[in-house]
Amino acid sequence: MYHKKKNTLLLSIISPVLFFSSFTSLAQTADIPALKAEAITIVKQFGGTLKPQLKKALSEGGVLKAIEVCSVKAPQIAKQLSSSTQWQVKRVSLKARNHPNAIPNAWEKSVLEEFNTRQQQGESAKKMAKAAVVKDEFRFMKAQGTGQLCLTCHGSELTAETKAALKKHYPNDQATNYSLGQIRGAFSLTKQL
Ligand code: HEC
Repeated sequence: MYHKKKNTLLLSIISPVLFFSSFTSLAQTADIPALKAEAITIVKQFGGTLKPQLKKALSEGGVLKAIEVCSVKAPQIAKQLSSSTQWQVKRVSLKARNHPNAIPNAWEKSVLEEFNTRQQQGESAKKMAKAAVVKDEFRFMKAQGTGQLCLTCHGSELTAETKAALKKHYPNDQATNYSLGQIRGAFSLTKQL
């Protein structure tokens, strides 16, 4: 009876140690620079596919057309990149337009808050990124700054037409009133280790 109790006690002490050490070893064996490089390539693919389409729609069809294109293409590109790679790919923001897709989880929220602080301290969004191993996942976020172009649909002086179109597609839109240089959101990528 005494021994049995002791064994149970020993096991309950050891098993959490084994549990956590398996995570530690994953983190230790992961090739972080290679994972970062992979993530950056995917971020570039995302932006490099979406931005030209956005610009083309703006110049050829105007803002309303561009909003429509963005509402269809952005989720499509994220989905396509997630299914063609081993990464889960999305965009998130503290003030989301696309609900619920762009609502950050707790970790993403804390990184977005950190990005805001870094931007307020003078760092440009251009190279702002964060990588971490959390549990058994490699997570990577790349900030997206608010450029001149972005103000057309995320700024504080939207035309009545733009406001109406956004409201139609996104009744819970929070992604306006940004000013130049602020962090609009981030690409967020996750890979199982
Ligand atoms: C023509 C209007 C338009 C312009 C210009 C525009 N966006 Fe957006 N943006 C949208 C729409 C529409 C969505 C929602 C897309 C979706 O449904 O996934 C969006 C979503 C986003 C998101 C995803 C998070 C969220 O809130 O849903 C980010 C990040 C973002 N935009 C950044 C930018 C940046 C950076 C620029 C400038 C380079 C920019 N946008 C320019 C219309 C625009």
